[in-house]
Amino acid sequence: MTNEKLKIGIVQGSVREGRNGDAVAKWMVDFAEKRNDAEYEIVDLANYNLPFLGSANAQPGAEGQIKAWSEKMASFDGYIFITPEYNHAIGGALKNALDFLNPELNNKAAGFVGYGSLGGTRAHENLRLILGELQVADVRTAVTFSLMSDFENMSVFKPADYHAANANTMLDQVLSWSGALKTVR
Ligand SMILES: Cc1cc2nc3c(=O)[nH]c(=O)nc-3n(C[C@H](O)[C@H](O)[C@H](O)COP(=O)(O)O)c2cc1C
Repeated sequence: MTNEKLKIGIVQGSVREGRNGDAVAKWMVDFAEKRNDAEYEIVDLANYNLPFLGSANAQPGAEGQIKAWSEKMASFDGYIFITPEYNHAIGGALKNALDFLNPELNNKAAGFVGYGSLGGTRAHENLRLILGELQVADVRTAVTFSLMSDFENMSVFKPADYHAANANTMLDQVLSWSGALKTVR
């Protein structure tokens, strides 16, 4: 084992224009960086402009975008997925983006930060199923922001203080498993 800091990607799982996800991702990266215990980086799905899986030929430059997404995701030891809940699941853009990956994620760890009417919890459980197939060890503790009480008018992010405890526990678990899983890769 080396003393190199673990690299954790904070994946912004909404590409919707005007998304609430920007404020949540910024909160998460600011919170995590204050711990000074790993290298954290936001990975914004919107920057990759991925085609639908199997339709790269329809979009000029798509192969390069897919390669950039794959290489970026492969560069991390673990992930924090920031996901809204769309129809009791993760959004289609995140599902499509994950479908491009497999070995890039194997034997790595992940934690979840969700938002929705019930804190995005149904999206988390949906994501657990998907990540199981990709051999990602997702941790128990999640951060769950309520659209009703952590956003003013469902759009201005004002998180309650109590989420900090869950965020710390989630990060502790992700770092612990990210470090442990390095030994089997
Ligand atoms: C197509 C669609 C489906 C949605 N379904 C749910 C849902 O099932 N449960 C929920 O809590 N919120 C649901 N919402 C509300 C979103 O979670 C909320 O709008 C959130 O801000 C979306 O994230 P974004 O703004 O970062 O894209 C839905 C929103 C959309 C656009």
